[in-house]
Amino acid sequence: MAALIRDRTTAGRTTVLGLATGGTPIPLYQELIRLHREEGLSFANVVTFNLDEYLGLPKDHPESYWSFMHHNLFNHLDLPPQNIHLPEGMVAESEIPAHCAAYEAAIRNAGGIDFQILGIGRTGHIGFNEPGSPKESRTRRIHLDPVTRQDAAPAFGGLENVPTHAITMGCGTILEARKIALMAWGSKKADIVREAISGPITDQVSASFLQEHPDATFYLDKEAASALG
Ligand code: F6R
Repeated sequence: MAALIRDRTTAGRTTVLGLATGGTPIPLYQELIRLHREEGLSFANVVTFNLDEYLGLPKDHPESYWSFMHHNLFNHLDLPPQNIHLPEGMVAESEIPAHCAAYEAAIRNAGGIDFQILGIGRTGHIGFNEPGSPKESRTRRIHLDPVTRQDAAPAFGGLENVPTHAITMGCGTILEARKIALMAWGSKKADIVREAISGPITDQVSASFLQEHPDATFYLDKEAASALG
């Protein structure tokens, strides 16, 4: 990622990054902050689009993905605030379709995503593309799977506080990224990682669509890879 940013900056071009939240990318974000502080990696020519945001959470809610990204990454870089894009959690219901269409248009106008970072949920979701999300799906409102809400419950202090819906980039949006890195750590992810990599390509496991992507790499620790044959 650093090499891509440096090469494109040298060539006078921007780099468009697709970013994820959750526990998985935190070590990556710590390393990007270190590269910025210690090795002068500049994000002045970087544009970012996050995968998703919970519906109903204001930006300043501690569990909003806007808060997460600023706390864990953006506040520590020279990334221009106008280059940062996340779906809006407080968008009025009637405005969701237009908001999602505008998000898609902003990605297109930026030239498309050069490098997309992904985690994987225990439902096999990438972004919040829960089981049943079509391969061609675009940015839209999604109903969160009970497993996903259960996994988020501790951070929200109880299941009843976890939003029921989110806005997520679609599978089709994600698959248009030119380069994709999915990361997974720990034994809890082992079964779904196996399904995504060696199971059938199915909308029941949206990460399985990555099998057909020309430049997608899974980065796994030993535990997350432990169910692979
Ligand atoms: C986050 C996202 C999700 C997470 C996934 C894994 O923006 O879109 O797909 O990447 O739920 O979450 P963690 O990393 O917390 O295990």
